[in-house]
Formats: sequence, C-alpha cells, structure tokens
Amino acid sequence: MLERSDLAENALQALHDEGYDAPFNTQSLNADTLIFTGGRQGRSLDGDWFFCVDLLDTGLRQKWFALPQAAPEDRIEPWDYDPRAGETIPVPSCWQMLKEKWYFFEGSGWYSRAVTLDAAAPGQRRFLHIGAAQYDCKVFVNGQFMGNHYGGSTPFCVELTDALEPGENWIMLCVNNSRTRDRVPMRNTDWFNYGGVYREVTLYETPATVIRDLFLRLDGDVIAADVIADGPADSARLEIPGLGIDIAIPLADGHGQARIPARPDLWSPDTPHLYDVACTVGGDRVTDRVGFRTVERRGTDILLNGKPLFLRGISVHEDDATTGKVTTEADLRRRFAHARDLGCNFLRLAHYPHHDRAARIADEMGFLLWEEIPVYWAIDFANPDTLRDATNQLRELIRRDRNRASVAIWSIGNENPDTDARLDFMRRLADTARAEDPTRLIAAACLVNHARLRIEDRLAQHIDVIGLNEYYGWYDEDFDELRVIGENSDPDRPVIVSETGADGDHEAGPDRGLFSLAYQAEVYEKQIATLRRLDYVKGMSPWILYDFRVERRQNVFQRGWNRKGLIAADKTTRKPAFDILAAYYAECAARDAP
Ligand code: GCU
Repeated sequence: MLERSDLAENALQALHDEGYDAPFNTQSLNADTLIFTGGRQGRSLDGDWFFCVDLLDTGLRQKWFALPQAAPEDRIEPWDYDPRAGETIPVPSCWQMLKEKWYFFEGSGWYSRAVTLDAAAPGQRRFLHIGAAQYDCKVFVNGQFMGNHYGGSTPFCVELTDALEPGENWIMLCVNNSRTRDRVPMRNTDWFNYGGVYREVTLYETPATVIRDLFLRLDGDVIAADVIADGPADSARLEIPGLGIDIAIPLADGHGQARIPARPDLWSPDTPHLYDVACTVGGDRVTDRVGFRTVERRGTDILLNGKPLFLRGISVHEDDATTGKVTTEADLRRRFAHARDLGCNFLRLAHYPHHDRAARIADEMGFLLWEEIPVYWAIDFANPDTLRDATNQLRELIRRDRNRASVAIWSIGNENPDTDARLDFMRRLADTARAEDPTRLIAAACLVNHARLRIEDRLAQHIDVIGLNEYYGWYDEDFDELRVIGENSDPDRPVIVSETGADGDHEAGPDRGLFSLAYQAEVYEKQIATLRRLDYVKGMSPWILYDFRVERRQNVFQRGWNRKGLIAADKTTRKPAFDILAAYYAECAARDAP
C-alpha cells in the first residue's frame, strides 16, 4: 500500500472516500455556456485519443487526470493507469462497436490527447465544443477540472482560455454512460445504451467578444432576430443579402433584438428555400443558412405557411450495425433518400436529439422534423435534479436547432405514465420550450387511455400536438378496439400517430405468424385502413425505418435487435410493409397536391 507521499495520501483517501465524484458533478456546462458555431472554422480534435475503461471510477478516485507526466522508468511510485499511454480509440466513436470486451461496458471511459498550441493572441478566447458524449462528461485540461455536462445527445462547450498554455496541453474527458434511475433517459429504454464521445470534437478560437446565440425566424411579415454576445460590444450587424437586409442591432448587456420587415420566399418541403445569413459583433462573425416559414395549429389542423397539411412520416433512431450511434453524412443522406422513396415529407427523430447534420440536410432536401428529448417511459418525475437535466437538454436542443426550418415540432416525452408528478414535470418542460421558441409546436408521444378506450391524456391541454403511440395488431391484439377508440375520441388538437407497427424478420419464414414479414405487412394494411378514416389524425410516423440494436430483444427472430424496421439492419433490404406504406403515402400526396 502506498504510504509515502501526497499521492500515497490520495491513494488511501481514494479507497475510503465515496464522495469522490461530488466535486465533478457540477453540470456547469449547459445551454448558457454554448457558443454559436455556424460558419466558424475550428480545429478538429477528432482522431485517436488514448482510452481506458474505468468500471469503478478509479480515475476520479485516484485523480488520474493529475498524474504527472513521466516515463515508466522515471516513476517512483506505482500507478494504475497513465492517461498518456496505452490503447487508443478514434473520436467520434462508440466504444461498444470497437472491441468485443467493450460491447456491454457501462461505466466511465477516459479519453486523453495532447494538443500543441501557439500562444493566444491578446484577448483571444478558446472554446472546446463536443457534439455529444453519452452521458455524463467531465472535462480536465492540464490536470485541472474545467466542467461537467449531463445529457447524451446534445452539444456542449467549455471555455479553456485560461487553462491552455503555449506548447503541449493535455485534454482529458471522463465519459460515463451508466444507466441510472434519475437520468434522462433513465435506466430502462428500448434502444441500445451506447457510450462515448460519438460526435465531433472541435477547438474554436474567438475574439474577446464571442457570439453565443443567433435566432432568426419569420413572424408574420417581419423577420425576428435575437442575438446574444458575450464580451464588450454595443451593436451587432445582421446581413441577409438575399433579402437586401444589412442592419445594425443595438446590444444591451450583450442582448439584441430586431424585427425587420421582409417577404422571403417561404421554405416548405416542396420549396426548401434557404437564405445565407451572417452576424458580426466586433471581430466575431458567424453564418448560417436559414429557411423562413411559419408552423401553427388551428383546431385539429397543422398549418405550414397558413395551409393545412398531412405529415407523411416515419420514425428513425440513430443506430447503425457497424458504427452504433455515430451517424455520418452518407448515413444521413441514405436515411433521407429512403424516406423520399417512402413518400415522406416528415420524420420523427426518436427518442433523443440526433446529429445536427440531420436537420441541416432536412432543411436542404425539404423534410419536416419532430425532434425529441429522451424523457422516456418511467422517468424520475418527482426528482428536481431530473427536471433540471431534462430542462437543460431541451434548451440545448432548441438553441442548437431553432434556426432549422425543417424542425416543426419539439417533443418533450414518450410513453410516460399519466401521473400527477409526470404532468407537473411535462407542463414545466412545455413552458420551457415555448419560452425558448414560441414559433414551433410542442408535442409528446402519449398512450391511449385503454380503460376508457379514448385518446386522452391530461398532458394534452399543455401541448399543441398529441402524439399517439398505438400498436394494435402487435402489443394490442384486439384490432377492433382501435376502431372503437377512433370513434370514441374527439380531440380538440391534431393527433399524429407517432408510433405503430410490428416486428418482421426474414428468418421468421413464409407463414403469417408473429415476427413474419407477412404478418408485419398485414398489420400495416389494417392500421392504414383504420387510421385513414380519422379526420383528426394529421400525420403518421410508424415505427420504424430500420431495424435497430437493443439489449432487451433476444428471441430467435430478434437476436439483440428490434425488427420493426421497414428496412432490415443492413439499411438495404426492404420488407413488404415498406411498399404498403409507400402506396398509402402516394395516395395522400396525390390527394393533397396543390
Ligand atoms: C414503444 C417505444 C419505442 C419502442 C417500441 C417497440 O412505443 O416508444 O421506443 O421501440 O414501442 O416496442 O418496438
């Protein structure tokens, strides 16, 4: 046992201190510490990082991040891990997909790499931006704790200006993907619990005044603009050349608003017009490509640019047989191409914020999106820390994507139990979403009231669109109940059937038994025949485009996958139900053609 030095003291303390992680669970990196990244040229820190799994959090207990740099032969005390040597893994990645020994690993993973820098120019600021790290990420630079982020699918920034030095610096990340009762999502989900830094890592250098946020949207016959800058500045410049806009926006305490008369070509799935925009504050400049349109509800109608529309959708997870939760540009473009083949104008990005590329490509190709935070199933609704986490993830999603015309709906939950605690929790999330962005619709994927055979959920009065997850023909065997529910229900706002479907696997043989392709096709035929008669149903996003990985599905047909995909896990092999849904969407498109 180490008895000699302060490290020895730490070694003993490390064995006896079960409060070891408290100093690092600050959740200090959040929606308010983001910087706006559109148009910035940053330095990519993707690539190989040293990596070690750490099941017992020995790294935080022994403070591996503070281990002095030394060659093994020069050390005078034993050590359990040196973050500057050993195995490496690529960033971005999910550690489960890289080595068999890490497939089911849940716990802390340590990432370390050197970054060599020149001296910062006077006033220059440096921010590390991480696209996503599943779930809890603690950031250390040159042995110093810099901040902590909760939330596995939203970006975060940490300012490193005062911690980075000229020459070699060491950045270390402790990323923990453990499933716990109080997280968002909590410990039980129907998707695979990937872990790691699975989106891009970038180091940005900015002037002393940095643009933290830029929000543009159409509001009637004006373009509304909000700018937030951090640092000395008395005005911002906003340019939208395509509309002849070039104005100064006064800043008070870094905040500025403007309402600029404009009549832009409206964005829609059929006309995905995007405008180049630029914002300059002092020496800082950011850009974006923004589509202008309005989304609202009137009674049970959803209106885009004032016209009712039917959302021909499909649900998608971020999941890949090879890369896990890492999505590439090619993977996303394949996803949207398949959605186009299906006849979609809408996708439900379930159950968490997807890569920001998804909304950018949807802007460009013309798809409407439902984006969602993973308030999924039995969340710890009575826990204020859980509400804080969910609220921050919602705010980070909205700050990241609220310039994306394709995003029409923010969803605040999925299949949650209808309890008082849940109602209060979700009502607060709906209020947060409207405060952050009054221009979009709020939804949640709700459950049918099976006792009263009606579409009803106390949350409905707090949201604009009722998502309905129903699986008649699969989990609910009496299909006629769906007809009864349809007739019994009289919602006063739009309903989107956010999930319906059935498993279908090629291995299940030719008969019509459960898990057969023929049975899956039959469920789609019966669902469509029933839902098409309900005039308050204004969209569908059946479950799901591709088969996806999940631990809890282990029968002989599932084999660790949920097989409800219309396309198999190879993202190539289509199932008969694909064509059945495509035929219905073709009918809808012809019916709704202008
Ligand atoms: C639920 C849930 C999905 C799940 C699906 C299924 O509705 O929202 O996340 O994968 O049903 O059981 O396949």
